[in-house]
Amino acid sequence: MTRDKPLIEAVGVEKRFGGYTALKGCSMAVAPGETVVLIGPSGSGKSTFLRCINLLEPPDSGSILFKGKEVGRDFASAVRLRREIGMVFQNFELFQHLDAAENIMLAPMKVLGLSRHDAHDIALGLLAKVRIRDKADSYPDELSGGQQQRVAIARALAMKPAVMLYDEPTSALDPEMIREVLDVMADLSAEGMTSVVVTHEMGFAKRAADRIVFMEAGEIVETRASADFFGGAVGARARQFLDQILH
Ligand SMILES: Nc1ncnc2c1ncn2[C@@H]1O[C@H](COP(=O)(O)OP(=O)(O)O)[C@@H](O)[C@H]1O
Ligand SMILES: [Mg+2]
Repeated sequence: MTRDKPLIEAVGVEKRFGGYTALKGCSMAVAPGETVVLIGPSGSGKSTFLRCINLLEPPDSGSILFKGKEVGRDFASAVRLRREIGMVFQNFELFQHLDAAENIMLAPMKVLGLSRHDAHDIALGLLAKVRIRDKADSYPDELSGGQQQRVAIARALAMKPAVMLYDEPTSALDPEMIREVLDVMADLSAEGMTSVVVTHEMGFAKRAADRIVFMEAGEIVETRASADFFGGAVGARARQFLDQILH
């Protein structure tokens, strides 16, 4: 898989907030179909790195390449890139005044110009895919956290993204709802959806990741094939972090 040309690549990405350097030259190449799990302590820069990858945050230096081409720094280039990338956040970020289907239909109608009818068909198909077809008419406040997050995943998929980025997608969920969301994500990965996932769910990482990337203090400290990582090939700092999260 790593022989393939990267689908998306960050090269030497630096990001400062005032005098604080949040990312100190982070590079990561993700091959088509690959799932990378990004781990690391709170404040290590994982969210900032994801936000730089889809140019929600402009890097101070370094570049983002999509399908081998450097993405320009202009607004239009960033908007074009983001159409190719689905992002899922910890707190779902659904539109509260729209039902599940309408949340999913919004971008296909507004951005792709689909008719309401066609967008609705797509929404129902995606809701079936995330296993809540029967919740099409429910509003976010009528859904559990796990169901809301699955609507958020379906909404991201509606734009047919080339890459999915997930930022701690199960961290806000009650324990009994974590599995249903991870199962949907693992299925997507198994179907070949290129994914970068920030998560502490090591069971998911073992099941779905091709590679594990460990970040600390704004740096990528370690990158391992998943099989090696779970086979025990882990550096001292990553080991220490794992011991903390696994108790
Ligand atoms: N918009 C911002 N303004 C100022 N500091 C920020 C901002 N976003 C993140 N940071 C800082 O950058 C560091 C990395 O944050 P973040 O990427 O959220 O880490 P993680 O997701 O690994 O917990 C933290 O110290 C955080 O306080
Ligand atoms: Mg974060």
